[in-house]
Parts: sequence; structure tokens; C-alpha cells
Amino acid sequence: MGVLISDIDVAAEAISAGHLCAIPTETVYGLAADARNSQAISRIFAAKNRPQDHPLIVHVSDLEGALEWLIDLPTWAQQLANACWPGPLTLVGQRTSLANDQITGGQNTVAVRVPNHATTLRLLEQLRIQGILGLVAPSANRFGHVSPTTAEHVNADLSDYLSANGDFILDGGPCGIGIESTIVLATGDKPVILRPGAISAELVESITGLAVGQGQPEGPRVSGALASHYAPRARVVVIANSINQNFEHGSGFIALEDVQTPDGLIRLAQPSTSEAFATELYKAFRQGDELGLANIYILLPHESGIGLAIADRVHKAAHPDKEI
Ligand code: TXA
Ligand code: MG
Repeated sequence: MGVLISDIDVAAEAISAGHLCAIPTETVYGLAADARNSQAISRIFAAKNRPQDHPLIVHVSDLEGALEWLIDLPTWAQQLANACWPGPLTLVGQRTSLANDQITGGQNTVAVRVPNHATTLRLLEQLRIQGILGLVAPSANRFGHVSPTTAEHVNADLSDYLSANGDFILDGGPCGIGIESTIVLATGDKPVILRPGAISAELVESITGLAVGQGQPEGPRVSGALASHYAPRARVVVIANSINQNFEHGSGFIALEDVQTPDGLIRLAQPSTSEAFATELYKAFRQGDELGLANIYILLPHESGIGLAIADRVHKAAHPDKEI
């Protein structure tokens, strides 16, 4: 059997036996292990080449399952969970004793989400019956590389490690959203967004009735806070417009479909909406790398709704040496 599988039973069996399995979600693919198997979790860090103190997100099948990992969740956060799960929302709250230091990077909070992908929800439900209460799953890319939005992307990054260790990739098709979940800190009396995503600040405000704060995740402990986290090998250049610029010929170009490709550039994506822009962004980065391009020029969509999350990822990719 190859590394790519489509059978949930095979995935469940592998995870119960302590193997890793990449899983599809609506945001990006995650590299999953039983959240209470510390040997398997150590292997996630090894496979990704990820620093050991970076905290992981626990994936569960519903709010009830989440409340085994989170305590003292404020009422507003439960409202948010009820409204958005399954969906691209991660809540960071006070941890229960289930969440150990290996998962939280030594912090007293834990990150939890319910992914909106039918295959993975069935897998999580099936594992729960077997007593597995959650899957930790960072994005299934090599550390510092672009997150994968297809099973083939995971294969391109990790197949050597996975096939050598009897691990799998559960293929659930391309990810619908394409950028990582919105992370909301849920330890205080109002929501604080630590990482923007498809669930916008406006939506969080309208669900909770509370003003939303913007927070910086705590330094390099939080891997998404490292600027290089989302970078392709090509140099990413954010542009203000597509005319009167000195473009280096033979470079890549990403913009909404109503923007014409400047002379001499290679079009990597022409999404029709901001949502489609998010869905196609990482694939376009990878294509640029496959073509060996030196530069990728990007004209961002309007910075509202998911446009804000797109700008966040693109600016991080554009300044890979800058820690924020
Ligand atoms: O959409 C997603 O969230 C994807 C899919 C696979 O679910 N996962 C993902 O995982 O993006 P990863 O490991 O690439 O990013 C997890 C982020 C960390 O970088 C950090 O920012 C945050 O989750 N995080 C985890 N635990 C935290 C904690 N206790 N406090 C603050 N942030 C935390
Ligand atoms: Mg990641």
C-alpha cells in the first residue's frame, strides 16, 4: 500500500497503533497523531522538523469533545463555538489535565478546533468510540514551508518520512478554504484574535456582541507568528498596482481575475473572489516554486473579511526574515 489512502478504517487503525496520518480539513491538511500518545506526537515534530516548544492544535468532533480539553470557557466563547463549529475557528482556552506540556508548549492554555470536513469528522467520531479523545495536527508541511491544501502537496513535502515509518496521508480532496483557521484567545472577557482566518473579526463581533481585540501570539512559541512560516522559496513581492512597475520578466503574478497579467509575467492564479484567492494562494506559491521562479508579485484583494487573513499570510511570506 502507498502512503496515500482514502479508507477511514485504515487511517483509524494506523492512528490507534501510534502511527501518524495526514488528514484533510476545510482549511489546510494537518499531520495528525493521537493527542495522548507522546511518542507519536514526538514523531510529528521529527517529520516536520518543527521546534519542540511550538504548541499544537487538538482536533475533536464536537463541542462536547472540546470541553474535555478546555475548562472555564467564557460564555461568549461557547456561543462562538456553537455558531462556528464545525468550521475554521480555533479556541485557545484554559487547559484541562488531558492537555500536557508537549501539546501546549508548556503554556497553561490549549488550542482546540472542530474541523469542517466530512471525512475527518467521521474519523474523529470513529476514534472517539475507540477511546481516542482528539488528534493533534499541525499543518502537514515541512517547518517553514507553505501549508498543504491537497494530499499531493503533503506527499511532496513528507512522503519520504511517512513511507519510511509506515505512516499515511488520508486523501479528502482539495481544501475548500485554503488558509489556516482563525485563532481566538478565549481566556478573558472579550475575544482576542491571535491569527486571522476565514472567520472574520466582524463575524466574531456579531456572534458574541463584543468588541474584538487583536493580539500578537506570544513570540516564537507560536509557530504561526514566525514570519517565515508561510514562505515559498521564490521572493514574494506585494504590489500596489499592476501598471508602471519594473517587473522582472519571467516572474510569477497573482491577482484577482479582473486584473490583466502584466507583460512578461507568468500568471499563477486568477481567482474571481477573495474567498477563491485564499483557496488558490498556497497552490500558486507551490507552482511558482515548481517553475523555479525568482519572484512572485501579488496584488492583494481588498483587506476586509478573509482579505485580512490573505494579507497576513502574504506579508509574512514577503518578509521571511522578519519575526513578528
Ligand atoms: O487550520 C488550522 O488551524 C490548521 C489545520 C490543520 O487545523 N492547523 C494549523 O496548525 O494551522 P499549525 O500548527 O500550523 O498552527 C497552530 C497554531 C500555532 O502556530 C499557534 O499559533 C497556535 O496554533 N497555538 C496552538 N496552541 C496555542 C496556545 N496554547 N496559545 C496560543 N497559540 C496557540
Ligand atoms: Mg503551520
